[in-house]
Amino acid sequence: MTPTTMRSKILFTILALGITAALHAQSPAVITVDAAHPGAPIPSIMFGVFFEDINFGADGGLYPELIKNRSFEFDEPLTGWKVVLPYTQTGGIGLSPGEISIHTDAPLNVNNPHYLRATALAPGYGFYNSGFRGIGVKEGAEYRFSAWVRTSGPASIRATISDGATGAIGAGHEIGTGTLTGFNGTWKRYETIIRATATSAHAQFNIFLDQKGSVDLDMVSLFPVDTWKHRPNGLRKDLVQLLADMHPGFMRFPGGCIVEGRVLANRYRWKTTVGDITERKTIINRWNDEFDHRPTPDYFQSFGLGFYEYFQLAEDIGASPLPILNCGMACQFNSSETAKIEEIHEYIQDALDLIEFANGPVDTPWGKIRAQMGHPAPFNLKMIGVGNEQWGPRYIDRYKLFNEAIKSSHPEIKLIVPAGPSPSGQQFDEMWANWRNLHPDIVDEHYYMSPQWFLDNSNRYDNYDRSGPKIFAGEYAAQSTGAAVSPKNRNNWQTALSEAAFMTGLERNADVVAMASYAPLFAHIDAWQWTPDAIWLDNLRSYGTTDYYVQKIFANNIGTRVVPSTPHAEAGLYTVASVDDRTHELIITAVNVSAETRATQIQLTGITPNGSAKVTTLGTSDLTAENSLDHPTDVAPESSTLAVSSTTIQAQLRPNSVTVFRIPVK
Ligand code: AHR
Repeated sequence: MTPTTMRSKILFTILALGITAALHAQSPAVITVDAAHPGAPIPSIMFGVFFEDINFGADGGLYPELIKNRSFEFDEPLTGWKVVLPYTQTGGIGLSPGEISIHTDAPLNVNNPHYLRATALAPGYGFYNSGFRGIGVKEGAEYRFSAWVRTSGPASIRATISDGATGAIGAGHEIGTGTLTGFNGTWKRYETIIRATATSAHAQFNIFLDQKGSVDLDMVSLFPVDTWKHRPNGLRKDLVQLLADMHPGFMRFPGGCIVEGRVLANRYRWKTTVGDITERKTIINRWNDEFDHRPTPDYFQSFGLGFYEYFQLAEDIGASPLPILNCGMACQFNSSETAKIEEIHEYIQDALDLIEFANGPVDTPWGKIRAQMGHPAPFNLKMIGVGNEQWGPRYIDRYKLFNEAIKSSHPEIKLIVPAGPSPSGQQFDEMWANWRNLHPDIVDEHYYMSPQWFLDNSNRYDNYDRSGPKIFAGEYAAQSTGAAVSPKNRNNWQTALSEAAFMTGLERNADVVAMASYAPLFAHIDAWQWTPDAIWLDNLRSYGTTDYYVQKIFANNIGTRVVPSTPHAEAGLYTVASVDDRTHELIITAVNVSAETRATQIQLTGITPNGSAKVTTLGTSDLTAENSLDHPTDVAPESSTLAVSSTTIQAQLRPNSVTVFRIPVK
């Protein structure tokens, strides 16, 4: 047990003892569940995940390439690369003369126009890459060192991993080495495996030329062999596992504002992210210098994680893919650049081609590319988002064209449209006035609001029009400071608990709320721009926040049909119930937003329990509690059982907790 857990337990015991006395005076809470009148079916995909390349979520995160700027295509093409310095203080090897420089003549391909030329004037010249805030390697693990090389000079290229990103040769100790040889004077890819002999979260990758002469290098890569499903160019295993454990119903990608770009030239274009990785055109990441409080000038998009990999990931974790596409508008918080209406066909064609890429037969142009990449079977795409957080008449004009073109050729594809960036206000009202007339399939609402807002809005959808569009709560997260974009926002138990209370209202309104996803998903502890986030990571470790566990508990415990329950939001108690026709269970989720243990009587109607209930409890009386890299599960679900022999069930709801009862029924 960690010291923090121990402290929480002691605190909990003290509170529990105090509360036991108080309980004698308190009348029990009553939860009623009326299974005789089942309500709306719950979409099986209801609770999903939102992925955006923010906070080093892709390069430096989920996409585990360890070399930053492997293709020398950052705006400053030597970003991440430096010459190895001599470590003279301890009499290390002296610096051999030579230089590294960027060249563009006869490059690897037109999308990858820059490459590095390293020239050794004497044997032993070296340079290094510092990775994404260091390079993370684990003792005993294998890493594939590969590079495209063109040389008629040096016969070999020696690479070492050294512990400690010191920039100096001999300063850190060598914890892995490998050599590339056999060059033939033309561009060709070479690879070797390096086994790390020690663990380091901040290693450095050095390249040495042990013979005089010049070498051209591109796509210099150090990639873990042990990726998710052991795929070359695969994803970081621990992070995918956290996603898989959530059993998300859908996966939204690639954002977020990244879809829009700050200007149209830097919008997300899915076509440049598929095919051979050497041909995927690197561009700046729009979060690069978005916030003065967290500038990350070295943030670019390599697209090693591109649309094929997103579809594949969604399939791996059992999630329905939900790509969001640019609608001809750059971010309206930035330039608001808008493609002329006469130019919009290019954007629409991207959408139509994406449907072909995902679902088309292998003899169609884009279906063929999917098959060549290794997935002849369709990806079963069923929905597309047209734009991200757009608002205003220019969007509506463009949406109408998208809608007409896509629905006429692909009526099976559901279209998701925005309601602007906020959950209320003028832009929101204007968008909804349009949507009431235009009847899109699904409207995407976003809320980055205070914990109190989430508590107060669990009934938000109780009175939404059931004959109107469905709702996608496409981005939401409680902001502990009350303000979005504050770098002081925390992922604590207060934020998570308020989201849980709110989510009872989403699930209860499953007839109008089709889907929901917390945002953003990932953040690198040394390179983030936006907080809070569901999952935090460093170069070796990761953990699910309190908010992650709330997402997980809901996604893992939805039934097939809502059944009426009370209370909704009374005296700090929020409930939702469903039946699961597949497992023959009644599922009750109770969120106790009070500092007291609630002695609770659950009264069932129209259903007969049959055996003991599985109970999952998540919570702590300490609303400021957080998980961390060192204490990843201080706040995590606990399992127990509860004997259930009649339609009246006695239970204790812990202070500030989420409790799920899965009750087998006849
Ligand atoms: O989730 C972070 C950002 O918040 C998203 O990119 C954007 O859609 C929203 O404003």
